[in-house]
Amino acid sequence: TKIKRILAIETSCDETAASVIENGKIIRSNVVASQIESHKRFGGVVPEVASRHHVEQVTRIIEQALAEAEVRPDELDAVAVTEGPGLVGALLIGVHAAKAMAFAHGLPLIGVHHIAGHIYANQLVQPMQFPLMALVVSGGHTELIYMEQDGQFETIGMTRDDAVGEAYDKVARTLGLPYPGGPHIDRLAHTGSAEMDFPRSWLEPDSLDFSFSGLKSHVLNVVHNQKQRGEEPNIPNLAASFQESVIDVLVTKTRKAVDRYGVKQLVVAGGVAANKGLRSALEDEFSETMTLSIPPLPLCTDNAAMIGAAAFYQLEKQSFAGWDLNGRPGMDL
Ligand code: KG4
Ligand code: ZN
Repeated sequence: TKIKRILAIETSCDETAASVIENGKIIRSNVVASQIESHKRFGGVVPEVASRHHVEQVTRIIEQALAEAEVRPDELDAVAVTEGPGLVGALLIGVHAAKAMAFAHGLPLIGVHHIAGHIYANQLVQPMQFPLMALVVSGGHTELIYMEQDGQFETIGMTRDDAVGEAYDKVARTLGLPYPGGPHIDRLAHTGSAEMDFPRSWLEPDSLDFSFSGLKSHVLNVVHNQKQRGEEPNIPNLAASFQESVIDVLVTKTRKAVDRYGVKQLVVAGGVAANKGLRSALEDEFSETMTLSIPPLPLCTDNAAMIGAAAFYQLEKQSFAGWDLNGRPGMDL
């Protein structure tokens, strides 16, 4: 059978990324230009700055992805792009770049949901086994998604306030750590002890939703009060106690979801899947009874390879976008 190649583009947040993927599985190239250095001094992603970087970088990144793959545009079968959710100005740059490529080379255009991409990143590592549960944890998302089969997504739990990565970054800021703070808290947590009994937000007994803003405020208050009393906050212990509360909630809710839906595979995706404490807690809890799949780090954080993997299913169905494709910041899965 013929090999089908997709050029995929991702610009939903602060990474400009392009990739060539074969048959939804094989990575021919995966180029990511991070803007973290530009956003660091603001302590978070500045949408306007992100858009300007995308405009400057996207053509070069696409050229590099094709060159590294050693694929000519006439050897492509489709162009895929993240349609949403994300920062609208950032999304539009990718959408326009994808339209230009598709139009110039007479290729079909495919719009991909960013979270579908995070989940399908797993397909680049091992085949998906349905029914599956996905735990998506990133700077913008905390979701439990049930998939009965290819292309079918049911969001069964989501955050009601902060995303887990967002909570990590805000707590890190309070502790005086650089942006993005997740990796710093993770590192310090392993040197401290979780001796402070931080709250867990379980919500209603049957709920698979999450809430992290209460925990975040709690840490802020503890640090504030300690400073007022003239005490020096113990950063490693604060980090360890915060991380233990987060992991406890994530693992317990994922266990509930997995049992309720009786799945064969658990897929973990998003930047927070890099967390060492979370990875080992999930391995302890799930790896003996089901297939636990946590893609390697470069496929967990934002990239275009995952968009190419998710787009393959849409290419097979001939589910193409029109020339009126738009960025959809609040797109539903
Ligand atoms: O998926 P991602 O690269 O970007 C999106 O938000 O879509 O995720 C970035 C988030 C940031 O909030 C960052 O602090 C967090 O992932 N993160 C971590 C770790 N590495 C990255 N959080 C906790 N522990 C880590 N080791
Ligand atoms: Zn993401």
